[in-house]
Amino acid sequence: MSDRLRIALQKKGRLADDSFALLKACGLRFSVRGGSLLVRVKNMPIDLLLVRDDDIASFVSNDAADIGIVGENVLVEEQLTSALDAQIAMKLGFSRCRLCLASPERGSVQSAADLSGTRIATTYPGVTGRFLKERGISAKLVEMKGAVELAPSIGVAESICDLVSTGATLEANGLMAFETILESEAVLIRSARDMSPEKADLFDKLMRRVEGVIKSTD
Ligand code: PRP
Ligand code: ZN
Ligand code: MG
Repeated sequence: MSDRLRIALQKKGRLADDSFALLKACGLRFSVRGGSLLVRVKNMPIDLLLVRDDDIASFVSNDAADIGIVGENVLVEEQLTSALDAQIAMKLGFSRCRLCLASPERGSVQSAADLSGTRIATTYPGVTGRFLKERGISAKLVEMKGAVELAPSIGVAESICDLVSTGATLEANGLMAFETILESEAVLIRSARDMSPEKADLFDKLMRRVEGVIKSTD
């Protein structure tokens, strides 16, 4: 791999905005305008890879990137559904959200106790499946890539398990959360492998800056 430190980041979305802001506050100078998915940091030997959040953990695990910033929800899901060689280096405290079970206000499922024999729509089969197993509940998971909140109203599932941040999407679709199964925030991850001495120095320097920025915004 190149001797520039590679950081995998979400290319677009809430996590992306917060991640760019953090790195800029750490003194990295770069511009993400122009649509390029490989962005050179001007004042440090660092490249940013702008990807789908779902690809960040596997890129770090496969050595395509040295480090990455990803939601804990995505990291835990990937750890449960694939072999991953990536670990949390630091929790970042932003992009907080909850993975929740939710259902229509007057539907047949109002609590976890009602889930047996029903269908649950989710993008998180790993984390949802773990929860069901821990509780000894047998339910069918209906996997969706997004727009999960639509599932109950079109008759695809009785409940959903999806991310809740402000709660606006649940409310707009007439759904109520009845159980939180995972609390999540942005985390900085790194591969378990050793970095070259030069990269390790740069990584340590960046970590100290990140720590400083996080403390000052607490
Ligand atoms: C996320 C999540 C929920 C919504 C929650 O979707 O899957 O649908 O945001 O946020 P809220 O509580 O503030 O409404 P996102 O917009 O990331 O799209 P996606 O589901 O297609 O990934
Ligand atoms: Zn995603
Ligand atoms: Mg969504």
